[in-house]
Amino acid sequence: MSGEETNTGRRRFLTSATTAIGAVGTGFFLVPFISSMQPSAKARAAGAPVRADISRLEPGQMIRVEWRGKPVWIVNRTQQNLDTLQSMDSILADPGSQISDQPGYAQNAVRSIKPKILVLTGICTHLGCSPTYRPDVAPVDLGPDWQGGFFCPCHGSKFDMAGRVFKGMPAPTNLPVPPYRYLSDAEIMIGEAEETA
Ligand code: FES
Repeated sequence: MSGEETNTGRRRFLTSATTAIGAVGTGFFLVPFISSMQPSAKARAAGAPVRADISRLEPGQMIRVEWRGKPVWIVNRTQQNLDTLQSMDSILADPGSQISDQPGYAQNAVRSIKPKILVLTGICTHLGCSPTYRPDVAPVDLGPDWQGGFFCPCHGSKFDMAGRVFKGMPAPTNLPVPPYRYLSDAEIMIGEAEETA
């Protein structure tokens, strides 16, 4: 082996060794940095989508799930509920949900993907109380005109069966609709948006 070949071989060895050490060093410093960027399991769970089984949800019933620390309501509206929605516009503050919070695919007359199944964030848009579900028609405390909806006991805001706020209420906008999509007819994923074409 000539002296020239020996030097070339030694240079190659040194180059490889330096690269390897550099890679190890970079890896050593990157790992703690990356792990400090990862959200904790608890934080991931808090923001993770939530599945809701609606297979046994009877007409008129509501179930509650929690998503991102907030109550989310899923209501199976009756045909009568849907019929009533059509005659509410004149007493509502934002009947077309123009200034309210919902995904584009729920900005329609019933504020939902499938007409009967309503999904709402159960937080009053006034000061954040959780309204009560009042599907009963003309109860004594809400008066003869009440057709069913949601009532906030904190300052008296009233919402219809699409979560739309009545005129003259402390709450300024309709109850929000969170992002959601159907996994099947029997299951909804709260926190993931429906794909729109
Ligand atoms: S928090 Fe609901 S009316 Fe005030």
